[in-house]
Amino acid sequence: MNTTPPDTCASWTRLAAHAETWRGTHIRELFDGDARRATSLTAGAPGMRLDYSRQRVNALTLRLLTLLAQERGFAEWRDAMLDGKPVNTTENRAAGHTVLRAGDGAPQEVRQSLARMRDLAGGLRGGPIRRVVNLGIGGSDLGPRLVADALPAADGAPEVRFVANIDPLDLSRALAGADPDATLFVVASKTFTTQETLANAASAKRWLGGRPLARHMVAATANAAAARRFGITEVLAMPEWVGGRYSVWSSVGFAAMCAIGPDAFDELLAGAADADRHFAEAPAEANVPLLMALLDVWNVNFLGAQARAVLPYAHALRLLPAWLQQLDMESNGKRVDHDGRALGYQTGTVVFGAEGTVGQHSFHQFLHQGTRIVPADFIVFDELPGDPAATAVLAAHARAQAEALARGTNDPALEPWRRHPGDRPSNTLHVERLDARNLGRLLALFEHKVFAQGVVWNIDSFDQWGVELGKQLAGDILKRKD
Ligand code: F6P
Repeated sequence: MNTTPPDTCASWTRLAAHAETWRGTHIRELFDGDARRATSLTAGAPGMRLDYSRQRVNALTLRLLTLLAQERGFAEWRDAMLDGKPVNTTENRAAGHTVLRAGDGAPQEVRQSLARMRDLAGGLRGGPIRRVVNLGIGGSDLGPRLVADALPAADGAPEVRFVANIDPLDLSRALAGADPDATLFVVASKTFTTQETLANAASAKRWLGGRPLARHMVAATANAAAARRFGITEVLAMPEWVGGRYSVWSSVGFAAMCAIGPDAFDELLAGAADADRHFAEAPAEANVPLLMALLDVWNVNFLGAQARAVLPYAHALRLLPAWLQQLDMESNGKRVDHDGRALGYQTGTVVFGAEGTVGQHSFHQFLHQGTRIVPADFIVFDELPGDPAATAVLAAHARAQAEALARGTNDPALEPWRRHPGDRPSNTLHVERLDARNLGRLLALFEHKVFAQGVVWNIDSFDQWGVELGKQLAGDILKRKD
């Protein structure tokens, strides 16, 4: 596979020169000079449409970015990932999350694990278990927590809570009012060695006061032996070749399945599979995850952006920024390439965000008038559960923010502190409706975007060596007496 550093590619040099000539061109002028811009700079994916007309790009930028993807061997890397080749080079293994949503095409172990999850989750409906508490952190928490929060609870589903922090307050809050006889814990941990999760599992076991774990605790893990040593008999298998932050589709998604029901979880997987097909088949100029990746590369490496705001205009997606933060920053916060060479260019972005319109009354001031340019991703729905008038209000606010950022105001009559410079880039992802299928599509689309960026940057988006030293030091510090 191609591991040529991107900054030695001809297109990279041309993009750098192009960025120099770019300075001084305002997004407002791009719209004024092209009446069709708002419709031509769009691309469709299943269930959604990306509008990137408010990016600081023209036809040449897009051509050069596509060329960069080509020079970096994007198609070869993508196909290798989808074919289960070891694209996680530092750990010499595949990144198989797409296999988890391959339906009948998934390997038997995946189908068996899903069938068992369905049996267990389906069996909870209207039964004696009234609270499910997921104990997990990072990828073993953020994905299922987001899905359970975003989608409606299934009829007769138990209440589902999530505990991540080793701070006992987290667990005690999740257990407030719970009855041990009616509680099921899900210990979600790929490794089954994570200190926070194991500490919470031990506390949960004590709280159960000797009740049989066979009825009150299940594990979602790739380390069945450790889960069994802990005393758990119901182990939902998770393959070793699935990364933690890509694992909501595996047994790690069990608590989410308990909340939304097995049928909605199937829809979530089917949605992700739709996005996988789009990523595999759409040509570069119409491939939404690739386009989003390349636009980010343009902003980060050529226009100097350091952060990105993620702004879903739906309360149901309020947890999306946190999920995306791990996905993006743990995947692409890397300083060496596949061959271990230190990088001479930036990777990753600081990802932050909040649901719209809440963020408007908090950090949007920084986005509009701060000294640093922060590109934004707006996510807007044509249809949200509830009042259609409220959906229209949310969409209007999102559009107003994107317009204000892009166009600003050049009215010289205004005092300086009232002026908006504009020329601040954003994408708007228009999603048809908020349902399980489109949520699956959206999450998978971001997974592919992050990977495609990693391909351009020539880094391993599937390892996370940077978290190890802190874990080891914390262990050492805890053992010390000083
Ligand atoms: O410390 C980081 C990390 O390894 C993440 O990559 C992962 O999602 C999280 O910890 C939890 O790991 P596990 O599922 O093995 O408990």
